[in-house]
Amino acid sequence: MHNKLKKIKIAIFISGRGSNMESLIKSSENKKFPALVSVIISNNELANGVRLAKNYNIPVETFDKKKFNKSQFEALCHKVLLNYKIEMICLAGFMQILSKNFIGKWRNRIINIHPSYLPDNKGLNAQKQALKKKASFTGCTVHFVNEEIDAGEIILQEKIKIIHRDNLQTLSNRILEKEHVIYPKALKKIASEILKIKNL
Ligand code: GRF
Repeated sequence: MHNKLKKIKIAIFISGRGSNMESLIKSSENKKFPALVSVIISNNELANGVRLAKNYNIPVETFDKKKFNKSQFEALCHKVLLNYKIEMICLAGFMQILSKNFIGKWRNRIINIHPSYLPDNKGLNAQKQALKKKASFTGCTVHFVNEEIDAGEIILQEKIKIIHRDNLQTLSNRILEKEHVIYPKALKKIASEILKIKNL
């Protein structure tokens, strides 16, 4: 038995509430989970997630969108990611479109969670889009991030039935509950694959 750390280091990017961030942190606290949350990055200093992250003894780097433009923000992030030797980035309610340049540098290393059964309802207000269409189901999806919005390779997704008395709140709550389950599962799958490739 060797005593190397069998975890890959991840960063979580957030802008708001931070509930998916928290579910990833909680999962990663398990010794056997193949990823370690090494740093949280926020583009919003007032994000609830920034406050939440402080409960977990994980460094938080905040580069507020009011103070830095996109290219400054991404340059700062890139530096932090290298400093912490980050291998995967998890976007969790991160409300900024990353540049082609940044995505290129982190190709196949960025994943995101979206509150719909992709490819349905890409973009903002996915839950509202599903209700407006009177769809019979929606869901949530974890996918790789590429240059096209919400269009990268799907890692894991789950369907959720829309019931006739659903409103935006009830549906969003049910989706979010499932998000908290599938995001750690998807990260576990990808992190295990990376460890395998690295022969750890
Ligand atoms: C989630 O619904 C996620 O799918 C979407 O933004 C929301 C973030 O929620 N990308 P939280 O900040 O993780 O609570």
